[in-house]
Amino acid sequence: MADVCRVRQACPKAKVLDELAVRGSNQIERRMGLGVNVRHTENDVVEWINRIFNQQRKTNKRKLKMTKKDLSVVPAVYPMPVLIVAAYDKDGKMNAMNAAWGMICDMDKIALFISEGHKTTKHILETKAFTVAIADMAHMDVADFFGIAAGNKTPDKFERTGYTATKSQRVNAPVIDEFPVTMECELAEVVSTETMYCIVGKIANVVADEAMLSDNGKVDPAKLNALIFDQFQSGYYVTGEKVGQAWNAGKPLMQK
Ligand SMILES: Cc1cc2nc3c(=O)[nH]c(=O)nc-3n(C[C@H](O)[C@H](O)[C@H](O)COP(=O)(O)O)c2cc1C
Repeated sequence: MADVCRVRQACPKAKVLDELAVRGSNQIERRMGLGVNVRHTENDVVEWINRIFNQQRKTNKRKLKMTKKDLSVVPAVYPMPVLIVAAYDKDGKMNAMNAAWGMICDMDKIALFISEGHKTTKHILETKAFTVAIADMAHMDVADFFGIAAGNKTPDKFERTGYTATKSQRVNAPVIDEFPVTMECELAEVVSTETMYCIVGKIANVVADEAMLSDNGKVDPAKLNALIFDQFQSGYYVTGEKVGQAWNAGKPLMQK
């Protein structure tokens, strides 16, 4: 942002600022040392911005042509979340698993794609309730363990972690105390796909650690350090810096 300020100082005219808004400021920032100073006119700066972006577009085009490669059939969506799904069985014993194939599918619904054979899946079908926690960097080892160990083979899977869980006040499912943000869900729908179930949960409530909230009372991703799963290389990443505002970054193009 500091360098955008320098552009504004160099040439505080609307045309330049519009150009920056349309094209994004990040690239400009990196190149600011090259040619902007207070003596440039508005047109100079606009021309300069255009030149950089045209060059870049050509280079990107060339690069893309040269480097496209078939990767065959791979689940090529990145980023994926790291979700911890937990449920009781009919006797009140809990189990939890790691699930990356999950996504919000309505303002109050979440869909998980999980295999029929998992112990957690069986629990969900029995009790018709579950929780979904967002795994964060501080709890990566346990989150991964939930994805490696199978409750059918390791009956004390949850106990081994040393973590604790509290029964949700809204649904018959455990909230794992250590994870910072958890959705409490009732089973809404089960769809059988060729290889797994799509489990749709209706979100009855979300509980979040106070320390994860910003002043407006909403979860602050910068505090959360949520894990991201990369299914190309099986890596865990953490979310990065905020680079823009949704429903806003594209607005200048709406006015064209
Ligand atoms: C990063 C990661 C993501 C995973 N995502 C899913 C998933 O989306 N769906 C699924 O069925 N299994 C997924 N798994 C595998 C299950 O978590 C794993 O089979 C686990 O042992 C099931 O536990 P359970 O049988 O105790 O319920 C994932 C595992 C890892 C490590």
